[in-house]
Amino acid sequence: MARNHWTLDDIPWDRLAPAEVDHDLLAVIKAAALVEYNADSYATYLGKVFAEDPSFQAMAREWAAEEVQHGLALGRWAARVDPSFNFEVAVDRFRGTYRLPEGSGNASIRGSCSGELVARCMVETGTSSFYSAVAEATREPVLRLICQRIAADEYRHYKLFLTYMKPYLLRDRVGWFQRAWVGIGRVLETQDDELACAYHAANGGGEPYHRLRASQAYERRAFRLYRRHHIERAVGMAMKAWGLSPQSRLAGLARRAAWWLVENRVGRLERSAA
Ligand SMILES: [Fe+2]
Ligand SMILES: [Fe+2]
Repeated sequence: MARNHWTLDDIPWDRLAPAEVDHDLLAVIKAAALVEYNADSYATYLGKVFAEDPSFQAMAREWAAEEVQHGLALGRWAARVDPSFNFEVAVDRFRGTYRLPEGSGNASIRGSCSGELVARCMVETGTSSFYSAVAEATREPVLRLICQRIAADEYRHYKLFLTYMKPYLLRDRVGWFQRAWVGIGRVLETQDDELACAYHAANGGGEPYHRLRASQAYERRAFRLYRRHHIERAVGMAMKAWGLSPQSRLAGLARRAAWWLVENRVGRLERSAA
């Protein structure tokens, strides 16, 4: 795995411009920091699923270290903008509420190693698009720079999981339909507990956790960051992970449908908040 090319010391913290920070975006970034930082727990799970693949295990450890660094960079940024934000306390609160889903024994919760890798590709597609969207949406120069670097890392992670997937696909004999099924399932899960929990842990104060409320509060602030090109690019990456051509008519249809779904969701979230 190509090594991480940046550290927290490469970020020009002295250029921070808190007056340019949108508070809704700050809340979203705090949640993202917690999810990123939690990647080392996921690496432990991946280590069990790929117990017979030392090369993958070594790669997954480096991958997790990069994700943890994403969490640290975003957490530090958020704490400098909002000194009342205590990253360590928020991490503890998040870990106290959220449990990663676990399979039985060493099995993948996606049914196979191929399924696991499709799910990883979907997550990296999502994060790569999300940080690209944030980098373009924010006027705050330090966050823009951090998100540009993170988005580049996420795209590299996507390509890496895609490369590791190929031999497993041959072994597991998983066709495009199954890959798409797992992939869409993973996208739907994004609306599930993890981000909602992280959003609550970072922003909820002393209030009790309410999954739907936290999930909607997160999505209302996050979904409106996306522009059409982010969603279209994400669909192309997903199609490739499913073994379908991003240039096909099906892909064209999927791009239009995905953008319609995002716009629709943003509209509904705005109306329910009004
Ligand atoms: Fe990340
Ligand atoms: Fe990543």
